[in-house]
Amino acid sequence: MNRSKQEVQVASVLHNSKRLLRQMAAKVGLLIPTKNFVLHKGSMLPRPADRLNGPDQEDNEFFMNSAINEATRVIMKLGCTQRDFLVDIGCGQGRLPIGLTRELPSLRYLGIDVTESVIQWCKDYIESQYPSYQFQHINLINARYNPSGYVLNDDFHLPVTDGATDIVYMWGVVTNMEPEHLTVYASEITRILRSGGKAFLTANVEDNVPQFSINPENYVPWTYHGPLNIVRYERHYFLDVFQRAGLTLTDCEYHGAGNCQSDLYFVKQ
Ligand SMILES: C[S@@+](CC[C@H](N)C(=O)[O-])C[C@H]1O[C@@H](n2cnc3c(N)ncnc32)[C@H](O)[C@@H]1O
Repeated sequence: MNRSKQEVQVASVLHNSKRLLRQMAAKVGLLIPTKNFVLHKGSMLPRPADRLNGPDQEDNEFFMNSAINEATRVIMKLGCTQRDFLVDIGCGQGRLPIGLTRELPSLRYLGIDVTESVIQWCKDYIESQYPSYQFQHINLINARYNPSGYVLNDDFHLPVTDGATDIVYMWGVVTNMEPEHLTVYASEITRILRSGGKAFLTANVEDNVPQFSINPENYVPWTYHGPLNIVRYERHYFLDVFQRAGLTLTDCEYHGAGNCQSDLYFVKQ
């Protein structure tokens, strides 16, 4: 059927309008991600205002160096190689994988977190470039990070099969996690590790304090903001939870991670 001149003109205007809209949408699409990251020394980093772990990390160089230092820890101290499978529990905005992708770009890596937005960021800016680096949200409650998540129950499992993991890494997570979740996480770490697998975590552990305290007074040199800003444990109580779960302490650096956090290294026998 022949179209009238007027119909052709209308179709052409519509076509051009759609093209313009597509171009504008593409531009907006390009603009949104540039707002969500900063490029520093060849790596995409979360925007300073979005970073966790305190104000120091708002400085790009500081953040980048801490990412590289954590990657170095994982490689040198935990012996991680390109063939290993590493599970990063509470991966946040990917500080460790940002460092690790520079050294081990094909490492099998899974980052898990209860905060959906950080997982989405990691998918957009890390997983999209390094497909062996995968990220998964778990909708478990955390009064600080995911207050509307599901309450922990007997069916809770980390999304990893038994014995599949060479290394578990957990920086600054039990420091801000419900104390009643600790035993379940210790047994889940043991479950997913292979025999001889290693776990690294930071924790606020001290002698001569109650078994656990939430936001304990006069402990850190800042004013607490919100729930679970600091969860502190009595050292023997904390280590006993991990020992009972089947993890043996191999090394400890007291307050090694700053903010009164100690570095703890475990092996699954
Ligand atoms: C202080 S940040 C540390 C982030 C990251 N590990 C790093 O070193 O930059 C703590 C992270 O742990 C996550 N988190 C808290 N409780 C968790 C849980 N039960 N399971 C998994 N992730 C958790 C939070 O959502 C947050 O992203």
